[in-house]
Amino acid sequence: MITPNLAEAPSHAVATTPEIEAEAERLLRALMNVECDPKGRRWNYETCLEIAPLTLEINALKREKNAVILTHSYVEPEIVYGVGDYMGDSYFLSLKAKEAQADVILFAGVVFMAETAKILSPQATVLVPDRGSGCSLADSITGEDVRRMKALYPEAAVVCYINSTAEVKAECDVCVTSGNVYAIIAALPQRQIIFVPDRLMADNIRNELSKLGIEKEIISSDGTCMVHEEFDVAQIAQARAQFPGLKVVSHPECTEAVAQASDFVGSTGEMMRYVKSTQAPYFLMLTECGLVGRLEVESPEKSFIGGCRLCPYMKLNSLEKIRDLLRAPRPEQVITLPEDLRLRAARCIDRMFELTPAAS
Ligand code: 13P
Ligand code: SF4
Repeated sequence: MITPNLAEAPSHAVATTPEIEAEAERLLRALMNVECDPKGRRWNYETCLEIAPLTLEINALKREKNAVILTHSYVEPEIVYGVGDYMGDSYFLSLKAKEAQADVILFAGVVFMAETAKILSPQATVLVPDRGSGCSLADSITGEDVRRMKALYPEAAVVCYINSTAEVKAECDVCVTSGNVYAIIAALPQRQIIFVPDRLMADNIRNELSKLGIEKEIISSDGTCMVHEEFDVAQIAQARAQFPGLKVVSHPECTEAVAQASDFVGSTGEMMRYVKSTQAPYFLMLTECGLVGRLEVESPEKSFIGGCRLCPYMKLNSLEKIRDLLRAPRPEQVITLPEDLRLRAARCIDRMFELTPAAS
């Protein structure tokens, strides 16, 4: 008998079993249309075969630990479609975190999202694959900064975008997401609004409400999303000249000029619904590339032209980290919050659920 020398096997060679092959086929059916891949991978049977043992192990660990994986649309497609239980935007994932009955919630997204899950499901162990997965918005302001703004404008309603830390949420009256921000701020009785931490979204709120004849004084802090602030109108003009009939779809974290030059502005969930329901020869997606990957999977008949960018924080998630986390979390990967702070932050998020229109 000749014993195969595994040390000499090519590094990508995988010892397959029927279970691994079936998993590779499942992954391939989901991923084969992804072209906008952050690592430039082509999703074929071989690439799926390489990750199949990992997704199989993660899905087995989920069952063993009664864990649920929430995935934001910006994380890599093999996480979303390989191991995610729920995928979507911040509002949808907050709802899922609140409803979760699982013992463990693993958030494949960024730290503020995992903190939000802990605020809403304190009984669950909430895990985050990489503690360094911050957010340029959430990291731009502290609770102390909000207290200083409140002292300057004591009559104002204090609104935070969900891309903020638990400490900031605890200082605010109501939280909003990109999907309900206009409706919630329009419904607040106060004319003066402190809005943190997104300065560009504050500009978009002023404009959108003004179009509806609602005049609010929006006082904002100085945060921006490092991904969305980079898009510019020159890029839109160039794309429109090159691709007649193009639809430009952007996120409210983009500049006012980009939002005004777009055909549609909304949360990542709303952007997906818009593309799925719109006939156009091409779409320019001014958001993180992960969303284009999701649309390539779920709307393979649509055509996307370049434009999207990577969020370095979202890309800190990986299947290997998720597997290791479910096997044995390190202390810094487990979200903990002081109970008094959690309760104050929960009030702010619960108010968002109360004020969100039913269709969101
Ligand atoms: P959504 O809630 O629209 O998915 O936005 C989250 C985010 O971080 C956008 O940069
Ligand atoms: Fe934060 Fe921007 Fe990354 Fe969203 S895309 S998580 S707002 S840095």
